[in-house]
Amino acid sequence: LIYLDHAATTPLRPQAAEAMQPFLGDRFGNTSGSHDISRRAKNVLEEAREQAAGILGASPSEVIFTGGGTEADNLALKGAALPSRGGVVTVATEHEAVLETGHFLERMGSKLDILGVDQHGVVDLSELEKAIGRHTAVVSVMAINNETGTQQPIEQVVETVKRANQRTLVHTDAIQAFSSLDLSVNELGVDLLSLAAHKFGGPQGVGLLYARSGINLEPLMHGGGQEYGRRSGTHNVAGVAGMAAAMAAAAADRDRFRREVGEARRAFEAKLSDRIERSVPEAMSAPQHSHVRLGVENETLLVRLDRLGVAASAGSACQSGATTVSHVLSAMGFSREQARHSMRFTFGWTSSAVEAEQAAELVVQALEGRS
Ligand SMILES: Cc1ncc(COP(=O)(O)O)c(C=O)c1O
Repeated sequence: LIYLDHAATTPLRPQAAEAMQPFLGDRFGNTSGSHDISRRAKNVLEEAREQAAGILGASPSEVIFTGGGTEADNLALKGAALPSRGGVVTVATEHEAVLETGHFLERMGSKLDILGVDQHGVVDLSELEKAIGRHTAVVSVMAINNETGTQQPIEQVVETVKRANQRTLVHTDAIQAFSSLDLSVNELGVDLLSLAAHKFGGPQGVGLLYARSGINLEPLMHGGGQEYGRRSGTHNVAGVAGMAAAMAAAAADRDRFRREVGEARRAFEAKLSDRIERSVPEAMSAPQHSHVRLGVENETLLVRLDRLGVAASAGSACQSGATTVSHVLSAMGFSREQARHSMRFTFGWTSSAVEAEQAAELVVQALEGRS
């Protein structure tokens, strides 16, 4: 198998598997107990929190572990908007975890503004500034788009929002960004930031929300008061230990990742240069993302590639199999025809240039119907 669907999920890094192992065996304690096995679990949880916070340049108390990226996005938007029923501003190309949460908040009485993007998927900062009012509670703009790889100018988003309303919180869904971008919450200036472990070599079903100290965040989960009362529920100790180990490994691997994974993606595109058209210019996109248009419909190509042992995607994981045009591509002005001929190849920490060239040869075979 040549796996080119790292935006959907990634193979577990060995450091994460190793960190999780004890908690799948005899170190099964509940972090809330008062005996030795619980205390050890609690220590591991707090060490993981310190490690994660240190990597993001945050304080440990600003890290809330969640059950994945969707929950982190929900907690960011609902948590920020529900206390005041304040407005939400976001962008048409966001993940459903943000857009659907925005629609929910609108049903609960918040004003919702969804901003358009240009042909490359980038938000217009002057439109953003105009959309912010006195009652805007939160603005959510993703760092890297999961479908096209488009990078949004997060620092400028923060500047624009704070100029318009100092009290409006800025959230970024950085779920696709951790492997390739040096994410420092203070350099970015964001108030809220979501991560999901499985996008950078950690386990599925665990994530975190960074929430700047002092923010009044309404919890989604009410109960036993874990995570400083902001996310009740027995901790997923194995998952959190795996996430922190994957964060450390991925952060230490970033320079190599940008160089070698970028090189693998370029080698792939170079071999296919006369058959593909990139959707987003390289300079505006994450190094690991190749969103391209090809001469054959994506549904057909996916089946042929699957037979040839190449895993790719026609869009985001939640949309493959759907017959409607992805909301991301329609926001960028793609016609139905263009969307149907679009494919997403996403490279990751296990990718190499040699494998990428083999994949490109298999793509040629698939395009020519030789599968
Ligand atoms: C940009 C983005 N946001 C949110 C999510 C949802 O994360 P999770 O699958 O961990 O719930 C994903 C992944 O599918 C994503 O790529």
